[in-house]
Amino acid sequence: MQSIGIIGAGNIGRAFATALANNNIHATLANSRDPDSLRDVVAAIGPTIEVGTREEAASKDIVLVAVNWSKLSAALAGLPDFTGRIVIDANNPIEGPLFRPAELNGRLSSEVFAGLVPGARVVKAFNHLQPHLLAGDPRIEGGRRVLFISGDEPRAKAEVSALIDRLGFFGIDLGPISVGGSLVQFPGGPLSALNLVKFG
Ligand SMILES: NC(=O)c1ccc[n+]([C@@H]2O[C@H](COP(=O)([O-])OP(=O)(O)OC[C@H]3O[C@@H](n4cnc5c(N)ncnc54)[C@H](OP(=O)(O)O)[C@@H]3O)[C@@H](O)[C@H]2O)c1
Repeated sequence: MQSIGIIGAGNIGRAFATALANNNIHATLANSRDPDSLRDVVAAIGPTIEVGTREEAASKDIVLVAVNWSKLSAALAGLPDFTGRIVIDANNPIEGPLFRPAELNGRLSSEVFAGLVPGARVVKAFNHLQPHLLAGDPRIEGGRRVLFISGDEPRAKAEVSALIDRLGFFGIDLGPISVGGSLVQFPGGPLSALNLVKFG
């Protein structure tokens, strides 16, 4: 099993950590502050989740990033080289308190994100559901809750798909970022925030 780091320990970072913990998968969770600020949080999530610095989380084989849009560049600055490693973009280009869409100058948010992690194999995933749905039981009435995945590198997508499957969700590959990114990006993407369950 590949090592997993999580940068961002808010609603989505904790929900993803909870999904991992529910399946006895190890991960390192980091925020912008001293790791001690997260001790109680990880104790509540489960024993497979440990606190770490931003640098420690960023050094793992798979790094999920879930940070407020305007803080992404600071959160990803000065980190070890991401070349060849999988970085999951769980972010959306909007944030409170105003919830005004960020200015992307015609680009997809994942394209902007990719520019912050040069060399990384970027996979867009875990960005379209509300946190309680990501943290909750994905098996519903005999079906499995759907998570979307998109990316330009097939092997990276396959690894994240395998993780999604292990978490109990049903992964749907939407293709490259240029296609899938626009379908799931919030706001605007027609699949964003859809809570779907795959039966059969
Ligand atoms: N909430 C949702 O319903 C939802 C759903 C899907 C996707 N998303 C996306 O997921 C991302 C995170 O949303 P959220 O709701 O989880 O936000 P959140 O609850 O506000 O949490 C943001 C996290 O980012 C961390 N952070 C900020 N600056 C950082 C830095 N320089 N270094 C390391 N960590 C830093 C914060 O740490 P500190 O506490 O130390 O500041 C905090 O743990 C956003 O892009 C959002 O659009 C959210």
